[in-house]
This record gives sequence, structure tokens and C-alpha cells, in this order.
Amino acid sequence: MRVSTSSPEETERLAALLAAGLAPGDVVTVSGELGAGKTTFVRGACRALGVRGRVTSPTFTVGHRYRGRVDVSHLDLFRYTGFAAPDWADLEPYFEGAVCFVEWPEVGASWLPLARADVSLTHRAEHVRELEITAEPDLIERLGSGRA
Ligand SMILES: Nc1ncnc2c1ncn2[C@@H]1O[C@H](COP(=O)(O)OP(=O)(O)OP(=O)(O)O)[C@@H](O)[C@H]1O
Ligand SMILES: [Mg+2]
Repeated sequence: MRVSTSSPEETERLAALLAAGLAPGDVVTVSGELGAGKTTFVRGACRALGVRGRVTSPTFTVGHRYRGRVDVSHLDLFRYTGFAAPDWADLEPYFEGAVCFVEWPEVGASWLPLARADVSLTHRAEHVRELEITAEPDLIERLGSGRA
């Protein structure tokens, strides 16, 4: 599905609707250019999953693991120029027993578990972002039903 949002809050709300349909073991990729709103999307999802602390892009580490109602991992592969078995060994624990969001997933694509949803954000105007979300019909339905 394609949908536009007009504020960060709206992007967070959309992410929350998607998150409500996720369970540990599920992976969501979040792609898009710098500043497109990937971390904003993940923040909205984290809140919906009961994560209370700050949700910021991992910068000094490859990922964060938060405790909410379920564990939530947040990875950012931006700094990887290549990806091989030792890299996957570093990341694998983040995927175990957690809902896992991956920013800049492209470099690790052949190693990551199959995603339940792929989210791609495009900058359209100062506060406008277009989201393209690919997922199974049951997840897409949640997004549709939550919109007024
Ligand atoms: N509709 C919108 N949806 C999401 N973010 C928006 C929207 N409108 C404005 N913004 C702003 O755009 C910025 C998005 O930043 P964010 O850190 O989420 O992007 P990012 O894609 O994770 O960037 P990076 O590639 O640096 O990790 C924030 O400052 C946010 O407030
Ligand atoms: Mg980010």
C-alpha cells in the first residue's frame, strides 16, 4: 500500500498500527534516504510495543534492544559497506526473541531473515512523506482500518 503522512506524529501513528500486528521473531525493514523518517517510524512502533525510553538511531553501536511488552530491536546498517558471515554473527542475537526493525537494510539483504513488512519512505515536502508498505494482507488491513 501507499500512503502519505503530513507530520512525524502521523508517521508514528501508522507505525503503531503496524506494530500492533507484530510478534517476537518478526522483522520489518525500513528504508529511505537520509532524514526520510525511518527512525520516526521505528519510534512510533516502539511506543506501541510498550517501549518507554528514548528511541534514537543507533550511532555508536549497530543496534539497540529495548524492553517493552515484548523485546524490540532497532538496527541501523548505514555504516556497513559490505556484509558477510561475521557481521551476521554480530547481529543475530538482536533478532532472537524480539520484534526487529532494520534501517538501511539493503547491504544485509541476503543475510537477514525474511521480513514480515518492508517499509519505504520518500521525502515529498517539508512535512510530507510517502510510505510504501509491502506486507501480508492481514498486516495491511490493520493499517487501513486505523485510518479515520
Ligand atoms: N511526515 C513525516 N514523517 C516523518 N518524519 C517527518 C515528517 N515530517 C517531518 N519529519 C521530520 O523529518 C525528520 C526525520 O528524521 P528521522 O531521524 O526519522 O529520519 P531517518 O530516515 O531515520 O534519517 P537517517 O537516515 O539519518 O537515520 C525528523 O526531523 C521529523 O520530525
Ligand atoms: Mg534513522
